[in-house]
Amino acid sequence: MSTTRDPVSIVGESPAFGAILEQVSAVAPLDRPVLILGERGTGKELIASRLHFLSGRWEQPLVKVNCGALTESLLESELFGHEAGAFTGASRRHIGRFEKADGGTLLLDELGTIPVRMQETILRVIEYGEFERVGGSDTVRVDVRIVGSTNDDLPGLAEAGRFRRDLLDRLAFDVVHVPPLRDRAEDILLLADHFAVNFTAELRRAYFPGFSEAAQAALLDHDWPGNVRELKNTVERSIYRADSEDEPVDVIAFDPFRSPHSAASPKAETTAEMHQWPVDLKARLAEIERRYVTSALDRHHWNRRRAAADLGLTYDQLRGSITRLGLIPDAS
Ligand SMILES: Nc1ncnc2c1ncn2[C@@H]1O[C@H](COP(=O)(O)OP(=O)(O)OP(=O)(O)O)[C@@H](O)[C@H]1O
Ligand SMILES: [Mg+2]
Repeated sequence: MSTTRDPVSIVGESPAFGAILEQVSAVAPLDRPVLILGERGTGKELIASRLHFLSGRWEQPLVKVNCGALTESLLESELFGHEAGAFTGASRRHIGRFEKADGGTLLLDELGTIPVRMQETILRVIEYGEFERVGGSDTVRVDVRIVGSTNDDLPGLAEAGRFRRDLLDRLAFDVVHVPPLRDRAEDILLLADHFAVNFTAELRRAYFPGFSEAAQAALLDHDWPGNVRELKNTVERSIYRADSEDEPVDVIAFDPFRSPHSAASPKAETTAEMHQWPVDLKARLAEIERRYVTSALDRHHWNRRRAAADLGLTYDQLRGSITRLGLIPDAS
């Protein structure tokens, strides 16, 4: 949870992302709730900040609450505040996030996790701008614009009775769907450069030497399930692990959890194995080929060009192998 004042630079030139930015600019000045939906790491929070800073409320606070991170009672007093003596341990009055966001914007992150009982109170704040602190009877009045963001399927939750339909209707004045990174490939290298330049500056290096062609191909080839956040971390890790500060970054360090010990390093056929006669040589060779090819593909996250180079094959020879062995990316 935090109060933010600084706008952050947003990078993206793909048509899909451009459309989102236009939508945000159009809805920002309206005093209505907005929902921001999208996969993890797509930039929902960044979009919410932009919405705030493009609104008439930009000089007022932007307050964020991660609703998924708190238990029900903590969330309640965090949102609405509590009076002294409201519960054991509540020695003083606590001002909630709604009050702190007065005049500004309140971002409810992961709002699909808000308990149904509290959803009713939130609906009342949106409709009448009124609520009571926990353990209090005074009515508190606030003027807050609500922005909700989540990766949950809210209509699905409403269908299952876990999200109030009336609140959903109210929040969904406008819904911004932030596309996953894999659907805006035009932005990948742009974002990668942006994060690389920032990280190089953070490391107090003079300049960023760029990505090699192979590295660019690997960045473009990856699926980015963690979206922009994954890209940012991957770029920073790759720069930090690079052998040289002056040469273009050539190796993209995708998965930090890949253990060097458990890697499917193809072990050579042992002499013991060779004592089992008769042998189906073709089957054994195919097996060895499969082991090396999957291992190389795995190593390079299915970047075929790099895997081929590792195997001493041409790109077309590797493609031939992949087809012959019937390999598919998910099975790697
Ligand atoms: N278009 C963009 N330009 C620059 N940085 C971006 C962009 N989109 C996302 N980022 C950066 O990627 C990271 C993840 O973004 P953000 O926290 O907004 O995602 P999110 O959708 O809210 O993620 P989560 O679902 O996990 O809450 C942040 O460091 C953010 O600054
Ligand atoms: Mg977020």
